[in-house]
Amino acid sequence: MTADQPAPAQPVNPVAGAFDGVDPEPGVPKPDPILVVDDITKHFGGLRAVDVHHLEIQRGAITALIGPNGAGKTTFFNLLTGFDRPDSGSVYLNGESITRVAPHRLASRGMVRTFQLTKALTRMPVIDNMKLGATGQIGEHFWQALLPVWRRQEAEIEAQADALLERFNLTHMRDEYAGTLSGGQRKLVEMARALMTDPTIVMLDEPMAGVNPALTQSLLGHVKSLRADGRTVIFVEHDMDVVQDISDWVVVMAEGAIIAEGRPDDISADERVIDAYLGSHHDSDLFEEFENEQANEQDNEPGSPDEHA
Ligand SMILES: Nc1ncnc2c1ncn2[C@@H]1O[C@H](COP(=O)(O)OP(=O)(O)O)[C@@H](O)[C@H]1O
Ligand SMILES: [Mg+2]
Repeated sequence: MTADQPAPAQPVNPVAGAFDGVDPEPGVPKPDPILVVDDITKHFGGLRAVDVHHLEIQRGAITALIGPNGAGKTTFFNLLTGFDRPDSGSVYLNGESITRVAPHRLASRGMVRTFQLTKALTRMPVIDNMKLGATGQIGEHFWQALLPVWRRQEAEIEAQADALLERFNLTHMRDEYAGTLSGGQRKLVEMARALMTDPTIVMLDEPMAGVNPALTQSLLGHVKSLRADGRTVIFVEHDMDVVQDISDWVVVMAEGAIIAEGRPDDISADERVIDAYLGSHHDSDLFEEFENEQANEQDNEPGSPDEHA
């Protein structure tokens, strides 16, 4: 946040200081890990998409997962959330293995991920999208999952959905088709819907993608409010300004592995991270600052080699 912007009221950070004394090294133990990953691998044919030796996610913190295109972030995210199965290795939630647990069962154990509004969901009113979140499962078979839930506890679920719409300033869109929402409003619905199961871990897949800059601060405030609630947040994000703003800790992937971990400031100064981004094709303004820094360094040291390029 720069000095010329008005400072919005910030939700408190209950884990401020939680990473004091934690070394910015891949695989470093955390004081109170909620999620632990051991020796996870996933191959697609001959391609090793994910190969993570050890990762601990601190309870109650906002952890960002970053890395160049093709680094394995989405695949790793899918392995963590039960949407894909690893070839080997384990994932533990609160010390219990969740390695091959299906997504809707993970939801009942406290872990949910956001889903982008698919075509089918855009043809439903916002309130019905919210009710779907109560199943913790929004896949192809969501109707089968949904019907018993609706029959059982419709009034309760609707009241909860309305309360969340209120919290996310979406009450006026309640009965509109989700397809009429702006990009930012869609992201808010995705986040609000994920809270229908009152999760302890919320996994956000590119929460800021396609969001109008005017809504960015509001969305970031909502992510911070999840942490203020005491929830753990893990998110994949391309925008380094967003990562710097809201993350307590950053995990960097490249070629399937974790190449760096640390506080946002550690990461933006890390040579391995800069090399990983510059050594790969990317199509956005991702790490623009790093590129500029690198360009300046190259101006200063004309012969400096880049062994990862
Ligand atoms: N279903 C799949 N089949 C084959 N290759 C895949 C599949 N999903 C991902 N990959 C490959 O695995 C690597 C990691 O992809 P991904 O996890 O999507 O990376 P990221 O999200 O970091 O951009 C890429 O080389 C990608 O092409
Ligand atoms: Mg991806």
